[in-house]
Amino acid sequence: MHRAIARRWAPLLLTAATACSDQAPATNADASSTSTAASGSTGTGGTSTGTGNADSSGGSSGTTGDDGPADDALQRYCGDDHAAIEARIDEWLAQLSVADKVAMMHGTGLLPDGGTWHVLGNDALGIPGLHMLDGPRGVSEVASVPATAFPVGMARGATWDPALEREVGAAIAREIRSVGADVLLAPTMNLLRHPRWGRAQETYGEDTHHVGEMAVAFIEGVQSEHVIATAKHFAANSIEDTRFDVDVSLDERSLHEVFLPHFRRAVQQADVGAVMSAYNSVNGLHCDVNPPLLRDILGDEWDFVGFVMSDWVEGTHGSVEAVRAGLDVEMPSGAHFASLPDAVAGGQIAEAEIDESLRGILRAQLCFALDTDPPVVDPDARLTEDHLALAEEVARRSVVLVRNEGLLPLDRTSLGEIAVVGPLADVENLGDDGSSQVDTAGVVTVLEGLVDRAGPVTVTHVPGDSIGAEQAAAITAADAVVLVVGLDADDEGEGLIAAGDRESLALPADQLQLIHDVAALGRPTVVVLEGGGPILVSDWMAEVDAIAIAWYPGVRGGYGIADVLFGDAEPSGRLPASVPFAEADLPPFDNVSLAVDYGYLHGYRWLDAMGTPAALPLGFGLSYSTVRYDAIGLEPTTAGAGETVTVTVTVTNTGARPVRETVQLYVEMPGATLPRAPRDLRAFAQIDLAPGERGVVPLQLAVDSLAGRDPERHAWVLEPGVVQLKVGSSAAQLDLIAQLTISP
Ligand code: BGC
Repeated sequence: MHRAIARRWAPLLLTAATACSDQAPATNADASSTSTAASGSTGTGGTSTGTGNADSSGGSSGTTGDDGPADDALQRYCGDDHAAIEARIDEWLAQLSVADKVAMMHGTGLLPDGGTWHVLGNDALGIPGLHMLDGPRGVSEVASVPATAFPVGMARGATWDPALEREVGAAIAREIRSVGADVLLAPTMNLLRHPRWGRAQETYGEDTHHVGEMAVAFIEGVQSEHVIATAKHFAANSIEDTRFDVDVSLDERSLHEVFLPHFRRAVQQADVGAVMSAYNSVNGLHCDVNPPLLRDILGDEWDFVGFVMSDWVEGTHGSVEAVRAGLDVEMPSGAHFASLPDAVAGGQIAEAEIDESLRGILRAQLCFALDTDPPVVDPDARLTEDHLALAEEVARRSVVLVRNEGLLPLDRTSLGEIAVVGPLADVENLGDDGSSQVDTAGVVTVLEGLVDRAGPVTVTHVPGDSIGAEQAAAITAADAVVLVVGLDADDEGEGLIAAGDRESLALPADQLQLIHDVAALGRPTVVVLEGGGPILVSDWMAEVDAIAIAWYPGVRGGYGIADVLFGDAEPSGRLPASVPFAEADLPPFDNVSLAVDYGYLHGYRWLDAMGTPAALPLGFGLSYSTVRYDAIGLEPTTAGAGETVTVTVTVTNTGARPVRETVQLYVEMPGATLPRAPRDLRAFAQIDLAPGERGVVPLQLAVDSLAGRDPERHAWVLEPGVVQLKVGSSAAQLDLIAQLTISP
């Protein structure tokens, strides 16, 4: 058995094997009595006051016999051929037996078949089936082939560059097609509700707008190669240790305004092909048997016309009730769904309901042309020079410089020797050992990158995890120190099996000691910090000259980091999540109990509401230059539902080096009847400026994105009134203000 799967699923294999009998295991959900149990999710959206959200007219895959999906949703998903495709599906459905149909609604087993997880098609009718593979940072190691390991999602989130992320999506799609896969199990797009979440590295950050921008771009990139992307995990999957069992309570506003908008954009803006339900429960129902989430919101309200698959092994909790809730595909086997033919025969579910589910699966196969242009195995399409160069560019662009007291960029003309220290200096540290793990080749460590880029500077590796006399002598002999510390797969991640959440936001104690000991030697020191999310820095920050956060930087990470440290690239990464002064500044992270309440506020929205400054705020990052925010313009200054306003921001590079600035727009609605967080990110864009250059950045703001969800009416409400638009370089540095009047 494949090593990674064995490791991840070993404790569950017995259960899975047992469950493979036709006997459906007990479930904790009974759809007929629970379809309205999830609080705040029963709305139809029909009374929306104009936010641009989908109306309630459409059905979806998994719905039980209404009018079917809206034409515009089908047009977006399938293009002009959509009517012909529906007709073809009708013909197929008329020819297939119930057993044939159900065989196309679940995986073929725990183990991948030929390197991918397979969902059967039908040879007689020429239905191709599905071939699935993770994942978020490249071709999963399950495929057993070397592939490009991109920087993790959180690193890519730190680029704040959707256009670059679109390229990453397309590159990963080309690589997974080259192993015969047509469904990519990515992006992971759950919010980083708390930075101790063990899978922090897979997602893009803490804010719904930012995560939405990046995920939409990734999905567009993937699907441009006609690979089906999978928005996962739907929804509120932000705790690892209790992921199978935890019930997340979310009131209607928190669900719709905070934890779902990025998924809605994946569906409505990027037309994502597939959605994966999360392991956890939301409001008392596991996500795969959760009619409010899958049927009412995803299907009816958003008009999703693709298919919903379960998460693996422990992710399905029923057969009839799951299909009725809106689950279309059980993965990785038919542990539950194999009993569906009997359920049809016994009258527990109608064949029409099976057809409705299967329709979404078949539609995806046809609309993504899996029948006419299937993936072709091609080893030459992986680890290409283009993909490696892209991984390197993303690594460069993801480095977030959060402190620089004049040491950086390292000056090749004045530094004779630099010492490279720390447990992560010369190791391959690309992320966790879970489903996002990639087998790669040619990894460039930080040490190797520095050696390659050093020119005349001597680079001395000082091995060891602590400072003895030998290390101290080597360090004091150097002119500057690069100290590489942080987390690795032993500290966080899905691979740790029910223990993947971080124990603390701090660095491990031995690394804190190492920083103190190195700093005490008095050489100019830059700390390179690796890891999947925010790490506390305030206790030791003042002891060192510079800090560069480099995340898990991918196969060519060493080059990217060295380029930034030597100043061959300008640092342009910005924090995708707030770094607090102390963990106590954030809402509690409860990865032990089986019931948690997420609430409306987390991250910068929580810190702002509490009046607690972040040590390093969302969106923050230094450059080697300085930028002045000169002026803000707004056109028009009054607008209503369905309209978009343009905010123009004039900025000047006031320093001596080029700069890439990320201009951020936050909205404040202090008078709203539905009380908001103090401020919410709603737009951002980047601009490159030469020294002394002035430029104008246009930011588009959709007025509908200012709507709130009325829990009484289960509808979006755009309140007339004045909204403050604040612009600046981070959530805590917003110097330009404009006022937008929302018209009734
Ligand atoms: C993970 C998913 C992944 C799946 C298949 C699950 O454990 O939660 O993200 O896609 O395994 O590897």
